[in-house]
Amino acid sequence: MRIKIKEILASKHPIGKPVTVCGWVRTLRDQKSFAFIELNDGSSLANLQVVADEKIPGYADILRNATTGASLSVKGHLVESPGKNQALELKADEIRVLGTCPADKYPLQKKRHSFEFLRTIAHLRPRTNTQGAVLRVRNALAHATHLFFQQQGFLYIHTPIITGSDCEGGGEMFRVTTIENTDYAKDFFGKPAYLTVSGQLEGEIMALALSDIYTFGPTFRAENSNTTRHLAEFWMIEPEMAFADLKADMECAQQYLQFCVKYALEHCREDLEFFDKFIENGLIKRLQHVASSPFAHLTYADAVEILQKAPKTFEFPVAWGTDLQSEHERYLAEEYCKKPVILTDYPASIKAFYMRANEDGKTVAAMDILVPKIGEIIGGSQREERLDVLEKKIADHGLSRSDYWWYLELREFGSVPHAGFGLGFERLVLFTTGMENIRDVIPFPRYPGHADF
Ligand code: 4AD
Repeated sequence: MRIKIKEILASKHPIGKPVTVCGWVRTLRDQKSFAFIELNDGSSLANLQVVADEKIPGYADILRNATTGASLSVKGHLVESPGKNQALELKADEIRVLGTCPADKYPLQKKRHSFEFLRTIAHLRPRTNTQGAVLRVRNALAHATHLFFQQQGFLYIHTPIITGSDCEGGGEMFRVTTIENTDYAKDFFGKPAYLTVSGQLEGEIMALALSDIYTFGPTFRAENSNTTRHLAEFWMIEPEMAFADLKADMECAQQYLQFCVKYALEHCREDLEFFDKFIENGLIKRLQHVASSPFAHLTYADAVEILQKAPKTFEFPVAWGTDLQSEHERYLAEEYCKKPVILTDYPASIKAFYMRANEDGKTVAAMDILVPKIGEIIGGSQREERLDVLEKKIADHGLSRSDYWWYLELREFGSVPHAGFGLGFERLVLFTTGMENIRDVIPFPRYPGHADF
């Protein structure tokens, strides 16, 4: 029975026990009468040290073929390691080379490769230490997401990927079509169809029947943003809660973020220590601080005033009514608050049509969570539940009433106050690992000019 290396290194198997492990060779050190093989199967950052002695069958062939990148199956027994780098090692009784790997062609050499180069070999980069660690943390955060919402009684809902409605009203949608001209009456759906930018509107339908729901799916934005924070295809978690106001929304968002960070601290220690050492010094301390202290709160108006008085010059000037840029968001979280901050009550003119109008007639019940290093990680709001107000907002935003007939009917038939938010999953992975570029925290990044693999 094959055993994962992670289990062996966690000392779940006693000394002397016969085991079989499989994996890819990271390095082979030939010591003449024996050899050390560092084997990795992706289950952990650490490799298992295999000791192959010249007495095992086919030793000469193994030495020739077990080069970096080759795949092996090793039968052996666990022994205490005399070396100081590991407690255990595997003394091989039999080694089978499953797949050879020509050293002169294999692009992953022992030296450190740049992240830019690794993106061009996305089929091999999961075999590197950094990508392996990113993908294990990403997996843990996905698991933590389901744990958190399931524990709170939210239902996981699948919202459509192909849609006719532009939730955010930004017009940055990819079109889905099977024809080459623009006669959409003849197209597959008989009308223009797009890849979704958000599952929120359908999420609201579900919350207005099932109370608390969440989505966790891919979303697509055709914005030409060549930044380290934007992807054309990213994953979003969108909870939606009936009978909830903005305060409940903010509480849920803070608890969810803190839960994810704590989960990673508890379950991904080895990988986070690696990031702390090689990617962001002080990462673990930063995460512990996020997990344990309440987030700061500011209104948009306060934030504008703080930014105008800030002892630094920004590339983009700020005034009431302007959208905040990432440099402003980062200043507020990183330098002013020194922790995550929730900004509320944005001007209606810079936010989506569905956000609930405040009494002042100028602002909406929106909330964005800004975090150090990233800027905006969560965007949410209380939704406009009043039919007449919503109708006016749809008109004010230049949208067509007929496109939103069903959304409006939800306000006609048993409307209730409700609220929700969206968290960009890759931004959460960036935040938790300290990685700098969003293209390095999704297995196959899509951005302008790039849709390989
Ligand atoms: O603020 P956004 O646009 O909000 C919505 O889509 C709402 N419908 C959410 C809701 O209330 N249910 O996007 C939410 C989050 C952002 O805070 C950001 O983390 C992430 O999605 N995001 C992106 N992540 C990567 N690449 C992009 N191009 C992103 N655009 C938004």
